[in-house]
Amino acid sequence: MTTTIDEIADGIYRIFTPVTIAGAGGFSFNQYLIADDEPLLFHIGLRSLFPQIRDAVARVVPVDRLRWLAFSHFEADECGALNQFLAAAPAAEPLCGRVAAMVSIADYADRPPRALDDNEIVALGRHRVRWLDTPHLPHAWECGFLMESATQTLLCGDLFTQGGSDHPAIVESDILGPSEAFRRQLDYFAHARNTRGMIERLAALRPATLACMHGSAWRGDGAALLRALADSVEG
Ligand SMILES: [Fe+2]
Ligand SMILES: [Fe+2]
Repeated sequence: MTTTIDEIADGIYRIFTPVTIAGAGGFSFNQYLIADDEPLLFHIGLRSLFPQIRDAVARVVPVDRLRWLAFSHFEADECGALNQFLAAAPAAEPLCGRVAAMVSIADYADRPPRALDDNEIVALGRHRVRWLDTPHLPHAWECGFLMESATQTLLCGDLFTQGGSDHPAIVESDILGPSEAFRRQLDYFAHARNTRGMIERLAALRPATLACMHGSAWRGDGAALLRALADSVEG
């Protein structure tokens, strides 16, 4: 269970930990570090992985310089280590959507969150992230994503989740086939009404890199891949 860190877009680093889950086989967890004037970590990681994720961050940015601890939704792999990172990074604040702040983070986190409106932008330096509310896509009422505009990177969380534990940092090969095979096994998408509309909104941002939380990051025509996902989910 060795954690590695690789740059997948200009100033954006994927922190990767392969794991074996008893009874389910290989899997992997990613966090993404945006190294800038106000460093941001998207996904905080499991509580049990805190020491190795912290050490990986420290290879690029001193941990006590972290400014934003951001995540898509409230699950252990997304933000289990939030309070450990808040203790290690005195200037850091949780960064999430209004629903996550109201439902969970205002109580759970040891410091209050900055709660973002849909479409709200946070400038990190040369990178800028926009929060996008995506309730129930792929799951959780509070779910949302961040779009980074300098690199056109969509921090797409659990979308395109790939099973297994052997994943290069970034690929240009097909990830939709593997992620759809995984979805058919585990049905981790909510069966929400407006799935296509929300995916289309992400596609219209024309991401060039998809920073997936489980598996490899991906480079290519993100709009086309997102539309193919919508077809597959609704097909
Ligand atoms: Fe999730
Ligand atoms: Fe996840």
